[in-house]
Amino acid sequence: MPNPETPSFFTFLVLTVLAAAALVTSKSTIEPCSNSDSCNAMLGYTLYTDLKVSEVASLFQVDPIALLLANAIDISYPDVENHILPSQLFLKIPISCSCVDGIRKSVSTHYKTRPSDTLSFIADSIYSGLVSSDQIREANSISDPSVLDVGKSLTVPLPCTCFNGTDNGLPAVYLSYVVSDVDTLAGIAGRYSTTITDLMNVNAMGGTTIAVGDILAVPLPACASSFPRYASDFGLIVPNGSYAITASHCVQCSCGPGNLNLYCMPSSLAVSCSSMQCRSSNLMVGNVTMQQSSAGCNVISCKYGGFVNGSIVTALTTSLQPRCTGTQLFPPLIAPPNTVKKDSMFAPAPSPLLSAGSPSPTYSVIPSTGSSPVSTTTAGGPTGSPASVACPVLNPGTTSLTMVMLFLLGKVMATMF
Ligand SMILES: *[C@@H]1O[C@H](CO)[C@@H](O)[C@H](O)[C@H]1NC(C)=O
Ligand SMILES: *[C@@H]1O[C@H](CO)[C@@H](O)[C@H](O)[C@H]1NC(C)=O
Ligand SMILES: *[C@@H]1O[C@H](CO)[C@@H](O)[C@H](O)[C@H]1NC(C)=O
Ligand SMILES: *[C@@H]1O[C@H](CO)[C@@H](O)[C@H](O)[C@H]1NC(C)=O
Repeated sequence: MPNPETPSFFTFLVLTVLAAAALVTSKSTIEPCSNSDSCNAMLGYTLYTDLKVSEVASLFQVDPIALLLANAIDISYPDVENHILPSQLFLKIPISCSCVDGIRKSVSTHYKTRPSDTLSFIADSIYSGLVSSDQIREANSISDPSVLDVGKSLTVPLPCTCFNGTDNGLPAVYLSYVVSDVDTLAGIAGRYSTTITDLMNVNAMGGTTIAVGDILAVPLPACASSFPRYASDFGLIVPNGSYAITASHCVQCSCGPGNLNLYCMPSSLAVSCSSMQCRSSNLMVGNVTMQQSSAGCNVISCKYGGFVNGSIVTALTTSLQPRCTGTQLFPPLIAPPNTVKKDSMFAPAPSPLLSAGSPSPTYSVIPSTGSSPVSTTTAGGPTGSPASVACPVLNPGTTSLTMVMLFLLGKVMATMF
């Protein structure tokens, strides 16, 4: 007669081995790095329970406004930071990605332990698999994981990659995405408008197999900034379909949907800000004038050039374009979510609230039929290339040198990788 305990013992053994194998084979993409610069990245986070916007933000120590805007959630709702987001909602968390011991990772997140927390609950639930309990244990030199002091501040190392802010030569932000049991590589590629081949290249995969718990670097097409290296928001990069806030909440930038040129304008938040007017013009950051002439459309824009020493840098640019374009388009904003619709955060449908007149950013084209204050065209330059006209702080020489150095560094990194 067979021992009745054998099957359950075997089941237990098999499960243990499988669990151990899953832990061992759980992969994440490592990007070597060689300097101390940080860059911008995103984490794909799934809420383990209902949480306020401010609670999610404090889990990752990020700005709640930045968190909302990264997900194109309308911040004009009253008391939006205390809005309760539903369990299982998927959010993109904008983080700063450092270079630690030669690899890219985020180490600025700390978690304060609560009664009944375990390392695996913190790793698998609270941080939705973005970190493993072993990684938390190592990062905090915990010898006995069964004894966690309540109120202890733990470093939570989180995965991130930047790959020079480009993918196939185009600006991209990388989302660290935790593979779930319903995912396929084709599904992820489709959802993020990329290809299987690209995902395989970025993640150095030998095949299309992915396992639950793997962390993939998913490139999101983005709008890059070209602020000088000494600007505090140097390297700002905004994924298509979203917004970012910068310059002490004074400036809001958006990306898409019409093109992938970063568009920045004064934010609608009531904060006191330094001047946003372009020198020797009456234009403010974000203002554009267009004037049709026989040669084409003469476009003058007052652009945001970065946040330097607490001041907003502005730059007046002129360009000649084949034709005058329509008004600036903005990514559709969504209302703060109350329910999780399948894939709702992946492909937000244009919110009906927008047409109902929610205070989405407005864009103005100054009708200028008379003489324009500045009329310059770029001689010999390619059509549509902007020429810097007045720019008090930006130094084009330094900027292009920086770009060359970045490029060389990128080359070296690409070879290493
Ligand atoms: C940006 O996103 C919008 C909306 O998803 C899409 O229609 C558009 O093609 C995207 N633009 C680029 C250049 O990827
Ligand atoms: C910022 O301020 C510091 C000290 O006030 C000054 O040395 C530095 O040149 C300033 N940087 C720029 C880019 O203006
Ligand atoms: C310039 O931009 C500001 C801020 O967005 C806006 O309030 C103003 O109406 C614009 N001015 C013109 C002349 O378009
Ligand atoms: C790195 O980024 C710079 C600036 O965005 C770009 O010009 C260069 O081609 C990139 N290098 C690589 C190897 O992708």
